[in-house]
Amino acid sequence: DAALIAKGETVFKKCSACHQVGEGAQNKVGPALNGIVGHPAGAIDGFRYSNPLKKAAEDGLIWDEAALTQFLSKPRDFIKGTKMSFAGLKKDEDIAAVIAYLRSLSP
Ligand code: HEM
Repeated sequence: DAALIAKGETVFKKCSACHQVGEGAQNKVGPALNGIVGHPAGAIDGFRYSNPLKKAAEDGLIWDEAALTQFLSKPRDFIKGTKMSFAGLKKDEDIAAVIAYLRSLSP
């Protein structure tokens, strides 16, 4: 819904230090995130992932709603050794909002 997506766009400011989205998005500190919801992990062209993230990808991790919810609440617990240096989002509603926003950016 539009209100949740708008809230998610605000929450995404916490991500935008490292991630780009939208037209012309490029890999920066983190990979570009267009279309990430429902996408296999570790598969954005040209991005150099950490070994633990590559391992999770080999094991079949898909960034569905459930996986993203766990990852974004505590990235370093969900993927031990990830190079995503972000403590996580504390509020469940912020996580739901940012996922809705990312979903709205799927091609
Ligand atoms: C990886 C989302 C904040 C740096 C990822 C991935 C997602 C994601 C979904 C996995 C991408 C894939 O498998 O292709 C987010 C969201 C954020 C956020 C929604 C905000 C709530 C940040 C911040 C930084 C960062 C603030 C930098 C300080 C990275 C890096 C990776 C990554 C370096 C690659 C991790 C690895 O290879 O282990 N992020 N991120 N992210 N993110 Fe973030």
